[in-house]
Amino acid sequence: MRFGKRTDFDRNFLMENMMGPNCVRLAAEILQKVSLKPDMRVLDLGCGKGLTSIFLAREFDVQVFATDLWIEATENYGRFKDLGLEEEIIPLHADARALPFAHGYFDAVVSIDSYHYFGNTPDYLDTHLVPLLKRGGTIAVSIPGLIRDFTDGVPAVLKPFWEKWEKELQGEMNIYTAEWWTRLWERSSNITLEECFSHTCHKQAWEEWLECDNPYAKEDIEMMKAENGQYFNTIGLVARKN
Ligand SMILES: C[S@@+](CC[C@H](N)C(=O)[O-])C[C@H]1O[C@@H](n2cnc3c(N)ncnc32)[C@H](O)[C@@H]1O
Repeated sequence: MRFGKRTDFDRNFLMENMMGPNCVRLAAEILQKVSLKPDMRVLDLGCGKGLTSIFLAREFDVQVFATDLWIEATENYGRFKDLGLEEEIIPLHADARALPFAHGYFDAVVSIDSYHYFGNTPDYLDTHLVPLLKRGGTIAVSIPGLIRDFTDGVPAVLKPFWEKWEKELQGEMNIYTAEWWTRLWERSSNITLEECFSHTCHKQAWEEWLECDNPYAKEDIEMMKAENGQYFNTIGLVARKN
């Protein structure tokens, strides 16, 4: 599958390594709004199995710090080495709330389908992320979200999936509307929110995920059938450090 101007992925490789709605498709869309130049230093936060890190390195020739919690650095290093990208992508195992980087180090932070797990509190941006960016640096985040708030609680068709999701999270559900994210990010005086938008590739990115031979994807099929395009959205946020 081809993304961006020059990045091809073997379809099987892509389908084997997706962990949610096609992250490369989402990255290709949101990064059209970001000016990345060769050799810039980019943090790919919550990179999972590194698909977006591979896309960033190939498409933009940037230096990528592929950072994740659930996937070990050694596993990702193997994938990057197999593709000859071990000099361009540095794999790390780290918690987004304890990142081991110098302040002012990155030109950009990209986070696809993971920010909602750790970034949904008022302190996150200013305490953990903004300090790592150079002045003028960019944050680009794509996350699952809601088209609009539920007015009458969680709709009955979604309730079983919601309850299961909350059990896995051991806490409250972490998807919100674009308005909710806008309000959260506008609390920070250290960034300027440039855009908060709905991804046009939302439907396609989900369809591609549901085609994967992955037990989580199989579980999501019923949820997406029940949801039927009425409630879910994929939200993109692009901000600049002041
Ligand atoms: C649904 S997966 C998406 C992975 C990848 N971005 C993709 O789209 O294929 C969510 C990712 O968020 C990462 N994550 C969740 N909480 C995290 C935390 N506290 N610090 C770093 N990464 C975290 C997990 O390790 C996981 O890989």
